Amino acid sequence: MRPKVLITDKIDKIAGDILSGVADVDFKDTLPEDELIKIIGDYDGFMVRSQTKVTPKILEACKNMKIIGRAGVGVDNIDLESATNKGIIVVNSPEGNTTAAAEHTIALMLSMTRYIPEADASIKAGRWDRAKFTGTEVFNKTLGTVGLGKIGSRVVKTAVALGMKVLVYDPYITAEKVEELGATHAKSLDEFWGVCDFITIHSPKTKETAYLINKNTLNRMKKGVRIINCARGGIIDEDALKEAIESGHVAAAALDVFEKEPIDPNSPLLKTNGYLVLTPHLGASTEEAQLNVAIDVAEQIRDVLSGKSARSAVNIPSLRADILEPVKEYMNLAENLGLFVRQISEGGIKQVKITTRGILANYDTAPLRVAVLKGILSHSHEGVNYVNAPIIAKQREIDIVDAKSEKSTNYVGLIDVQLITDAGTHTVCGAMIAPKTPRIVKIDDFITSFEIAENILIAPHHNKPGMIARVSTVLGNNSVNISMMMVAKKQEKAGTESTMIMTTDEHIGPELLEEIKQIDGIYDAKSIYLMPEKIKLIFVTIN
Ligand code: NAD
Ligand code: MLT
Repeated sequence: MRPKVLITDKIDKIAGDILSGVADVDFKDTLPEDELIKIIGDYDGFMVRSQTKVTPKILEACKNMKIIGRAGVGVDNIDLESATNKGIIVVNSPEGNTTAAAEHTIALMLSMTRYIPEADASIKAGRWDRAKFTGTEVFNKTLGTVGLGKIGSRVVKTAVALGMKVLVYDPYITAEKVEELGATHAKSLDEFWGVCDFITIHSPKTKETAYLINKNTLNRMKKGVRIINCARGGIIDEDALKEAIESGHVAAAALDVFEKEPIDPNSPLLKTNGYLVLTPHLGASTEEAQLNVAIDVAEQIRDVLSGKSARSAVNIPSLRADILEPVKEYMNLAENLGLFVRQISEGGIKQVKITTRGILANYDTAPLRVAVLKGILSHSHEGVNYVNAPIIAKQREIDIVDAKSEKSTNYVGLIDVQLITDAGTHTVCGAMIAPKTPRIVKIDDFITSFEIAENILIAPHHNKPGMIARVSTVLGNNSVNISMMMVAKKQEKAGTESTMIMTTDEHIGPELLEEIKQIDGIYDAKSIYLMPEKIKLIFVTIN
């Protein structure tokens, strides 16, 4: 029997032409969960845009499903964990709509400055109102860009060509890369907010960027700033934006993405007379982009259904099982070491050095390198996996150095991850202290031994009485429960410095972290998140 593929969300018909050689294709409108559950059991392939939410219940109802294709970049509408658990490959089109989203950003910026939507409505209502729509030029103004990936880079190039001064904040990109595009590198958000006439967002929504634009950061912006968001809803606090527009602090905003999509009819953004230009997530909606993503994803579905591999799988490891076997137990540790070292480092990455010691030095450690890179990159990129982590690292021109040392250590196997950025060097080491018992054993020069936990506070401090009590009091006053606390010291010198390590029940957000940093004697506190259980290694055999 020929395989069957279901295509929803008004994806270009070309996908059907590409797939028709290997499968029977059904095109349907976007369907709700209950209707999809009834029919999805018949299909071997499924292709969606962002409107269809591929929930765990839908995935549970899949009986023959081999592959789900997302005609776009973000896979946040597909429950990846459930898909992976069911052995379903998820593929996307990471670059097919880059140009479209960048052009939409520029279109939003210019529509907002020249009142195009309002002027259009006014003339069509029979008016000839010229004075009312006096705009603002972008020439010579400063455009602040958060995120310099595929879309951000394209926006920056266009803005520079328009004669704008461009300031870029992307803590994961080197200053050289920013300067190559004719822009200026902002080392921190402190030097970013107050100088921009326009701010545009091109980062993914992550723990760090969720509500990045909030009441506090809006207050730090220049009066009259104009904001554009063509990335993801939830990076801007919509209530705070409404208030700032109504008070006149923000002159205008242009948004393509919203916390809730389709937009909630009660959204504060629809209940303001402040100046807003809104579009219904149209960033990728050009004929060319829809053709690109449809072709890209349909070709991958066709290939997988005919027994070949997919080029942009977001959930399937490409590691050989025989090479993986001896180091398998260390994969989760390696990934968390990458995630950890990235979070204690600042600046654009220049080099990652991975040294394996003890028993690990006898094996091919390629899988551990992939796991470390996945950990490092997943802090700043969406959909990083074992397949694409090395590719992203290469695109980012990250130098990767592998080293082995058979010199004995206190542990059977030890992984040492050093990250060199343009802001400095940090090292984190991890070891298996007993079977299935991974521990972080060293942070820079500080010797320690603690479990991989979801929320960790690292607080280097000057050795003096009362430091622990002061930090615990701040956490206690903010109702944060401490589940583990220890003080790490340097191995050799008695020294004047120690590092406090606490694991907490909740993640310590930026405001609380700031309060901790204000404690006299604490000099570089960091709030870290790790993924002790969520990182799973699953192999899928495709028939
Ligand atoms: P990308 O992965 O190429 O680039 C993302 C960049 O953000 C990276 O350079 C990363 O270093 C940076 N970044 C991560 N965390 C950051 C932080 N805390 N502060 C500053 N920078 C940070 O992604 P892309 O393809 O350029 O997409 C960018 C965004 O646009 C994504 O959220 C994507 O989902 C969204 N998107 C929207 C549409 C649309 O229709 N509106 C279309 C395509 C993509
Ligand atoms: C994407 O992630 O590709 C975009 O948000 C575009 C879309 O879903 O239409």
